[in-house]
Amino acid sequence: MKAVAVTPATKSIGIISHEEPRIASPTEVKVRMIEVGVCGTDKEIARFDYGTPPAGSPDLIIGHESLGEVVETGAEVKDVKTGDLVVMMVRRPCARPDCVACRAGRQDFCFTGEYTERGIKGHHGFMTEFVVDDERYMTVVPPELRSIGVLVEPLTVAEKALMQVWDVQQRLPWGCVADLARAGEFQSGHCHRAVVLGAGPIGLLGALALLTAGFETYVYSRNSHDDPRVALIESFGAKFVYSEERTVAQLAEEVGNIDLVYEAVGASSLAFDVMKVLGTNGVFVFTGVPGRRAPVEVDTDFIMRNLVLRNQIFFGTVNASRENFQAAVADLARFRERWGDKVERLITGRFPIEAHADLLLGNTGGTKNVVTIT
Ligand code: BGC
Ligand code: ZN
Repeated sequence: MKAVAVTPATKSIGIISHEEPRIASPTEVKVRMIEVGVCGTDKEIARFDYGTPPAGSPDLIIGHESLGEVVETGAEVKDVKTGDLVVMMVRRPCARPDCVACRAGRQDFCFTGEYTERGIKGHHGFMTEFVVDDERYMTVVPPELRSIGVLVEPLTVAEKALMQVWDVQQRLPWGCVADLARAGEFQSGHCHRAVVLGAGPIGLLGALALLTAGFETYVYSRNSHDDPRVALIESFGAKFVYSEERTVAQLAEEVGNIDLVYEAVGASSLAFDVMKVLGTNGVFVFTGVPGRRAPVEVDTDFIMRNLVLRNQIFFGTVNASRENFQAAVADLARFRERWGDKVERLITGRFPIEAHADLLLGNTGGTKNVVTIT
């Protein structure tokens, strides 16, 4: 079968011929791939800044944002059946008996770093015709979400972040969204304000998840006025703030108390600037992985004073659990209900497998491009 692979030793990217996988254990499932999304991580792998082939293999089949259809199931498979649409999780647990996270099925919190990630680290990915995996790594997507199912994996970033925000904010009385709106105290019906940094796929999906969770949502990004994303974001009900036109201080003035920052650009100097305007009892979530640039100066006293005097929390988040995948499927259904076909517009291009090189090298433009396999 055909597969798109990177070969770090020769720094090449291309279509290889790979043996079709077969079900080898009774809980495994064979999936025909339908679509595979391309993201920033894939582009880094294609630049050979990241990514590791499986042990003993010169190449790594790329792709971790999946949507496929079950074509065969092992004898003991219970949760999926032939014909189901599924999305596969990315990370597989490490083998260490003492990794409490992996042993509990929470490899998204692996302690050892010896996990593998399909299409990224030590394990082949999904940009190929067929994949076999254990059913425990699969989440079923209802057929009516077929055209946007490939967005489940990138949406899991926001789902994991939000679940942690709810956990963290249990530390104080924070549940006011519905109550205060009912009491007529907040005209908009929101009392929590979130700022999303960046309008790439992670930022846009994060904004939709935040809107759906009841946040008054601002997207701070440096797009041009005619960027179609701006109108799209506004039509979803979020407010767009141009970073070229508004300073971080002006952003804070416009928003009021910033309860949550959802960072989705991977630009550390911007992030630390915005950290200075995080509100009282606020939470700052980092999701981006910055490249290493020259060090920047940061006003550490100011930030630390705020951290303490305003009860703030900063955390980083990577990868996602099975529960986060299920939450992403449920949220995609809510997005579809609320915004209809507009959600489709988050996918800016669909391409045949032959377009892989331009897609992976970032020559194609658009925000979220997808490779159509079947
Ligand atoms: C993937 C995550 C993965 C991370 C780091 C992201 O693009 O969505 O699943 O953990 O890259 O490799
Ligand atoms: Zn582990």
